[in-house]
Amino acid sequence: MSRCADAVELFLNKMLTAPKGMESTVFEAMRYSSLGGGKRIRPFLVQECARLFGISDCRAIRAGAAVELIHCYSLIHDDLPAMDNDDFRRGKLACHIAFDEATAVLAGDGLLTLAFEVLGHKDTHPDGNVRSDLIYSLSQAAGARGMVGGQMIDLMAEKLDADISLISRIQRLKTGALISYACEAGAILGKATDEQKKSLRLYSDDVGLAFQIKDDLLDMLGKAEDVGKATRKDADAGKATFVGLLGVREAQQRAEALCKQAISQLEMFDEKASNLRRIARFAIERQT
Ligand code: IPE
Ligand code: IPE
Ligand code: MG
Ligand code: MG
Ligand code: MG
Repeated sequence: MSRCADAVELFLNKMLTAPKGMESTVFEAMRYSSLGGGKRIRPFLVQECARLFGISDCRAIRAGAAVELIHCYSLIHDDLPAMDNDDFRRGKLACHIAFDEATAVLAGDGLLTLAFEVLGHKDTHPDGNVRSDLIYSLSQAAGARGMVGGQMIDLMAEKLDADISLISRIQRLKTGALISYACEAGAILGKATDEQKKSLRLYSDDVGLAFQIKDDLLDMLGKAEDVGKATRKDADAGKATFVGLLGVREAQQRAEALCKQAISQLEMFDEKASNLRRIARFAIERQT
C-alpha cells in the first residue's frame, strides 16, 4: 500500500505542476490538499483489482490517481464551513483555512475536473472504449446519484431522526460509491467478466460500508493526532451514523460482519486476492 501511495504521489506531483500565471494559486491549493498525505486506499484498490486480471501496476496508476483526485476534492469541500466546518485535515490545516474559502472551492473543482482529464488521456488505456467506460462509471459514482448525493443526504440528515436504512444509504453513497468505483475501475481495465465484476461489486459494497463505520468509530474513539482530523464532532453535529444509532459495540460488530462478508465474496479469485482480503481487514482495524 505504501509503494502504491508513493507512485500516486509521484504521478499527482507531475500532473499538478503549476503554470506561471496568476492561476498558479489554485494549483498551490490543489497540491496542498492532494500531496503528502492520505492513506491512498482507493488507488490501492484499483491496483489490486486490476492485478487480478494481470494488469500491471503502472497501467492501473492513472485510474487510481483519478479516484484519489475525486476523493481529495470531496474532502476539501466536506471541510468547508458550509458543510462539516472542519479546520484540520490529514494532520494540517484544512484547505479553506490555509488558503481561503473561495480558493478551496476552486481547488476542489480543479481536482474534480483533473480526474476526468487523467482518465481521458490515451496513456490511461489504448482502447478508447475502456477509457470511455472508466469515465462513465466515475461520473456515476462521484455525481449526484453517488457521492455528491450521499453528501447532500448526510447534511440533511443532521436534522432528522435517521433510521438504519437511511444511514446505510448515506454511507453507501457518500463513501461506498467511490470505493466501489475503485474496484470497478480495476475490473474495467482488466476486461473482467460480468460474474467477476459482480463478485468485486459485492466485495466493495461491504468494504465501503465497513470503511465508513470505522471512520465514525474513529471520530468517537480516536485521537486527533492519530487520525489527522478533529474527533468527537459527529455526535454534536447530529450526524447520522451507525455509532450514534447503535452504539460503539454494535457498530464494531457490524463492521466486523461486513469485513467477513466482503472476504467471502472473493473466493473465485483464490490467492490472487490476498491483498484485497487484507484491505478488508485494514478497513476496520486501521487507527488512522
Ligand atoms: C476519509 O477518507 C473520508 C471518508 C470518506 C470516510 P480516508 O480515511 O480514506 O481519508 P485519507 O485519504 O486517508 O485522508
Ligand atoms: C466524508 O465523510 C465523505 C466524503 C468526503 C465524501 P465524513 O465527513 O465522515 O469524513 P471525515 O470524517 O470528515 O473525513
Ligand atoms: Mg461529511
Ligand atoms: Mg467531514
Ligand atoms: Mg467522519
